[in-house]
Amino acid sequence: MKDFLAPELEAYLFDHARPPAPIFDEMRERTYAEMTSPQMQVGRIEGALLRILVAAIGARRILEIGTFTGFSGLSMAESLPDDGELITCDIDPKATAVARAFFDRSPHGKKITIALGPALETIAKLTGPFDLVFLDADKERYPDYYEATLPLLRQGGLLLGDNALWSGEVVAPTTASGKAIAAFNARVASDPRVDNVLLPVRDGIMVARKK
Ligand SMILES: C[S@@+](CC[C@H](N)C(=O)[O-])C[C@H]1O[C@@H](n2cnc3c(N)ncnc32)[C@H](O)[C@@H]1O
Repeated sequence: MKDFLAPELEAYLFDHARPPAPIFDEMRERTYAEMTSPQMQVGRIEGALLRILVAAIGARRILEIGTFTGFSGLSMAESLPDDGELITCDIDPKATAVARAFFDRSPHGKKITIALGPALETIAKLTGPFDLVFLDADKERYPDYYEATLPLLRQGGLLLGDNALWSGEVVAPTTASGKAIAAFNARVASDPRVDNVLLPVRDGIMVARKK
């Protein structure tokens, strides 16, 4: 994924948003020190947007597809009420062990349950309603994740798809991931069940609100 913003503009964004809790800096440092694809982490601007969206819709129950080392999950959990719930799934035991270690240290971690295993199998076992779904796992399955999770979303709930621009490749997709994300974007944009906007934040976020 390429950098979309000049470093000085990114620094300006950082200077003009509430700084994240110190644990998020540790999450970033440990992820960049230990993981092979650390850039998968959503980072502080998108993390702050997720936190604010969760608060804005008064979400109490969230489903996340793609835990990695926990940055997006903990960002969203911060805005859940004390009895709120975030279920997050991933197939990577190493990444989820890192996430679990951070969740255990945060006062918001008790709201989070990690489901280790293929996301489609986890989703099949869940019952709705969820207030928000965040898709951020294997891109080839985005259309499947969309169809599997939209029925679990409450009316007025938000479904967010990360990396919806795939570094700009969606305009003329060539890879399997680019083609799948482009198919996901087209399906959402033409789906009468949702209202939507594709935001150029970081690598793109598809925002779909269930009617
Ligand atoms: C882009 S990362 C998620 C980043 C995370 N949201 C964050 O902010 O740190 C994608 C994650 O999806 C996971 N993944 C890939 N295929 C999966 C599958 N079939 N089911 C569940 N998770 C999967 C990967 O192991 C990886 O940790």
